[in-house]
Parts: sequence; C-alpha cells; structure tokens
Amino acid sequence: MEFLLDTADIAAVRKYNDIYDIAGVTTNPVILSRAGGEFLPTLYKIREIIKDKQLHVQVTASTPDEMEKEAEAIVKNLGKDVYIKVPVNEMGIKTIKNLKENGYRVTATVIYTLGQAILASSVGADYVAPYFNHICDHVGDAEKIIGEMAEIFKVQNKSTKILAASFRNTSQIITSILSGAEAVTLSPEMFSSMMNIPSVDATISKFSKAWSDMYGEKKIYEL
Ligand code: E4P
Repeated sequence: MEFLLDTADIAAVRKYNDIYDIAGVTTNPVILSRAGGEFLPTLYKIREIIKDKQLHVQVTASTPDEMEKEAEAIVKNLGKDVYIKVPVNEMGIKTIKNLKENGYRVTATVIYTLGQAILASSVGADYVAPYFNHICDHVGDAEKIIGEMAEIFKVQNKSTKILAASFRNTSQIITSILSGAEAVTLSPEMFSSMMNIPSVDATISKFSKAWSDMYGEKKIYEL
C-alpha cells in the first residue's frame, strides 16, 4: 500500500514527509498554482525534501508533440525517475504510448471511466489515477469503477497500479483501498482528518492525566 501526498505546499511536504512514510508527492497545475511558487523552483524544493521518493508532475499541453517536449523538459530538470502525469483523452493515450516507448515513467490521470483506465494500461501506463470525487460528481459509482478496474488488471495480469485521488472524506479513501487501489494520494487535509479523532484524543489525555497524577512532569526515562 502506497500513500502519496497531493500538494505542492512546501511546509506541508516537509511536515507530512517527516511524520509519515509517504511513497512520494503528486502535483497538478491547480495544486501548483494554489501553492503560489514558480513551477521549477517549487518542484526542486519538493525533490530536495522527499529525496528519491516518487514525484509526479503533470504536463500542460494538449498535443502529443508538445506534451512529449514538456516531459523531456521535466525529466531534464528533475530526473528520469519522475512520473509524467498525462490526462487521458485520445491525445493523452498517444502521448503515453510514445513516452513509454522512450522509457518514461507515466501516470495516466483524470481517469473517470473503466475505458480510460483499460486503454491507458494497454499502452503501458505505470499508474492510473481515478478521481474519486469527480467520478461521484460526473459519472457514478466510484467504488464500483475502482473495484472493476482492480479486477480487470488482476485478471489481465497488468502491472499498472491504481493510484486513487481526489477525496472529500476518509471513508472515500478506505473505500478505494478496499476496492483494490494499491496507492492513494491525499491532500494534507485528508491526512489530518484520518488522524483527527476526538475520542482518541480524549483517551490519550486520560493516560497523560493518570501519569501526571503519579509523577507530575517526570518522564519514564527520568525515574
Ligand atoms: C491527483 O493526482 C489529482 O491531481 C488530484 O487528486 C485531483 O483532485 P481534485 O481535483 O479533487 O483536487
């Protein structure tokens, strides 16, 4: 199971990379514009923090020629091991096919349907990224679609992994994992909400109180 961080906020990358064993960071143009910095300097900083973990960077052009040139520029600046995120439409499929023939790592993104996932996998995508929320909003049952995607890849013996993305709550994340996603990419808010459980905090406070009633501020290593 891989957990990735879906942000370009440098402070958040530093914080969550420090706390969790994240597999890497995913970005897209919206995430980068929200973070506010310049494209390459922001990605250099992320690379510096996460070292050799996965970095997924999306192309912005719409023709295969231009997307391939962008991919070339991305790996030239950030290293050959970067995952190039390509939105999946017909031009995207052609781009993925060409990039894979040239040894790139590729994440097929903006996946709303099984058809997109199957065709992206057929041209060698390393990851497909179904957008849970967007599927719920525009297509239908995200749980069913991710489950069927996982089943098809298993039956077909595909190495393409499912990297589920775009979550509004914790239960969507768990549903994706139960449905067969090998990886999920979470915003900092989603990471926090998985750990923000008031009843757990209350129980931990009780343990702290019981200890301080006995030993005040002393720690076990100070006894
Ligand atoms: C991840 O790789 C996607 O870019 C991201 O999760 C999109 O989700 P959103 O549109 O809900 O922010």
